[in-house]
Amino acid sequence: MKHAIETVGLTKRYGSLTAVNKLDLKVEHGTVHGFLGPNGAGKTTTIKILMGLLRPDEGTIKILDREIRGDTPEARLKVGYMPELPRFPKHLKGWELLDIYGKMYGMTTQQRGEQIPKLLEMVGLKGREKDLIGKYSKGMQQRLGIAQALLNEPELVILDEPSLGLDPVGMVEVRELVREIAKEGRTVFLSSHLLFEVEQVCTHITIIHKGVALASDTIQNIYSKLSGSSTLHVELATPSDIIVEALKKLSFVSDVTPDGNMLTIELKTNDDVRPQISQEITKLGGVIVSMNLKGQTLEDVFMQLITKTGGEK
Ligand SMILES: Nc1ncnc2c1ncn2[C@@H]1O[C@H](COP(=O)(O)OP(=O)(O)OP(=O)(O)O)[C@@H](O)[C@H]1O
Ligand SMILES: [Mg+2]
Repeated sequence: MKHAIETVGLTKRYGSLTAVNKLDLKVEHGTVHGFLGPNGAGKTTTIKILMGLLRPDEGTIKILDREIRGDTPEARLKVGYMPELPRFPKHLKGWELLDIYGKMYGMTTQQRGEQIPKLLEMVGLKGREKDLIGKYSKGMQQRLGIAQALLNEPELVILDEPSLGLDPVGMVEVRELVREIAKEGRTVFLSSHLLFEVEQVCTHITIIHKGVALASDTIQNIYSKLSGSSTLHVELATPSDIIVEALKKLSFVSDVTPDGNMLTIELKTNDDVRPQISQEITKLGGVIVSMNLKGQTLEDVFMQLITKTGGEK
């Protein structure tokens, strides 16, 4: 098997709006792949297409290396899915809901009897399984949603914004759950609009904005490919044009902007070049009062990527 998910040229339009635009998505087996993008980027639309809940206008889909056409429900038997903000019938008890889903998956009484308590324990709902879902907090409902997505022992688990609406503690719990699911050897594809969440739990990310994939790679590659720059702020006792011009000539400097006693030095590298800068300034008789190196974070990269395409439709 090569890919858990593979789409080519996936496109979905809602009237004149192209919600998903020629999306080529590749999710390798055994990875935790984050589908990252701001509100309205097209994440839920893509996921609904993968799950057969929406029909694409163009493009092909393979799930677990099987070409999907139309519904093809059997191709999705090994896929677990938690929709965005799952809301289950309030009058059911937690375990009842899982039991109903289990029956729908064709699980035997024995299989359900083994699997459901295991999952309730895993998602931290043990002891609350006989309470009505109507009495569950948002976090508990979200965790019940995750249990539901794991019921059929899926090879691929698709979670649409699993941390949405959760408090910081709930978010940490969900991240731990995702790690546990991955440890069991399942591929996880999760959408999120929160960069730090994706950064902490995913091995790979695809950044989507206005339906277009802007980047897709391992976290490390995205980081090193796109964040090969940083900014150095240097405060001088007495600024001089000679220093500014000399710094501009250094191979690793892309630009220098003086502002009063402050120099903003744009660097082409993420390496710490403060010693070389300091040497150059001192050589020319300058006196450094302070120096502050700001590396580019993934957050900066994300913002840069999405603002660059901000005007496009
Ligand atoms: N049923 C619909 N009819 C018309 N437009 C829709 C429909 N569903 C979604 N859209 C639009 O398609 C775009 C993508 O929406 P989608 O829900 O896929 O984004 P998302 O990335 O999941 O956003 P969020 O982070 O807010 O969940 C948005 O501009 C949205 O307004
Ligand atoms: Mg969404």
